[in-house]
Amino acid sequence: MNNLIIKNASQVVTCSGFEGKRGKEMSELNVIENGTVIVTDGLISHILKQGEKAEINISDYNTIDASGKALLPGFVDPHTHFIFGGYREEEFSWRMRGDNYMAIMNRGGGIVNTTKATRKASEEELTVAGKMRLDAMMRLGITTVEGKSGYGLDKETELKQLRVIQRLNEIHPIDIVPTYMGAHAVPSEWKGRKDELIDFNIKEMFPLVAEKQLAECVDIFCEKDVFSIEQSRRYLEAAREFGFKLKIHADEIVQLGGAELAAELNCLSADHLLQASDKGIQALAQSKVVATLLPLTAFSLKEKYARARDMIDEGCIVALATDLNPGSSFSSSVPLLFAIACIHMNLSPEEAVTAFTVNSAAAVGRADTIGSIDIGKQADMILLQYPSYKFLPYNVGMNIVETVIKKGEIIKLN
Ligand code: NIG
Ligand code: FE
Repeated sequence: MNNLIIKNASQVVTCSGFEGKRGKEMSELNVIENGTVIVTDGLISHILKQGEKAEINISDYNTIDASGKALLPGFVDPHTHFIFGGYREEEFSWRMRGDNYMAIMNRGGGIVNTTKATRKASEEELTVAGKMRLDAMMRLGITTVEGKSGYGLDKETELKQLRVIQRLNEIHPIDIVPTYMGAHAVPSEWKGRKDELIDFNIKEMFPLVAEKQLAECVDIFCEKDVFSIEQSRRYLEAAREFGFKLKIHADEIVQLGGAELAAELNCLSADHLLQASDKGIQALAQSKVVATLLPLTAFSLKEKYARARDMIDEGCIVALATDLNPGSSFSSSVPLLFAIACIHMNLSPEEAVTAFTVNSAAAVGRADTIGSIDIGKQADMILLQYPSYKFLPYNVGMNIVETVIKKGEIIKLN
């Protein structure tokens, strides 16, 4: 029975909305003090102010008393690479001694290193590791996550990663939005043949992934020494023909114009954007592309944070994501994400909450069904240990999520 009454929450932080919010709208959380939310058949059916009553048969419902606790939409993490074999702890130590992320990649480490381990890993091993990572996310309040392939970079392993994502989506309470990322790096067998690798993706992989319905989105690492603007444009335009939504790793290390390309192609999201130009930011502000920022990556790589303040002030739709992966951000720490976003990127707590709920739902194309507490939406919600959402960045680095509700069911956290 997915019928539930969450009674008398000190705050119902609705984040109300069915599409990404931009600029000043990001500060509007539409909080109801001492509110009650009712879930019927896994969907949000009533949002009540203090004293309001609903006409329901109470014996059909379980009830939780949420006094003293804030109720929020479940978090949506819209950019991760959580299916991978092996780890790269040596590279982390090298970087702490001054080595550079791209230099390590250019000498055959980085993404290609993980590709080797992912090719070797069995489907079962990847599933077990993936499940462990999803369990950790759920404890932190994440109820939907985007997950990319891109550590196979050959037909067999890319499909293996996507099948693991599909299986986990079936067996795990967290919903997974699958993304195909066949242009994530250039493994040795494709060295000097990047255009052919793009062709291989367009001619062989897109039709296969589309036919098997293994991905909703397609992504590319548009970066100096990886894939150029022209290669990215060709790859993404072809992906659109197969019905995929488009995502792009843009302007992360070098200012290439990825933000402008994302706006030109009307991508679902442009991600990273540490080096995005003024023109790029303006182009995004005038588009519906979600600017997805990854504070944990900049933190881990000791890079300057993306210009979140400028983006919001210019009117961009800004989302936040963890970028969980074994290299540049081996973390799904939601608490740290909130702390950095507010303390170092100067988002207000309200903007940060919008960025990790309704706007991150928009970044995966699902703001119509998740990401806010609105009537008719899927009942994915979390209760905090504290009475206000403001504790999220304030209680630095601490997990304050007490209860996770997925499709109206209270999840047993292990
Ligand atoms: O989003 N920048 C490219 N891709 C990932 C890193 C993947 C890795 O280092 O394994 C990212 O940061
Ligand atoms: Fe990434």
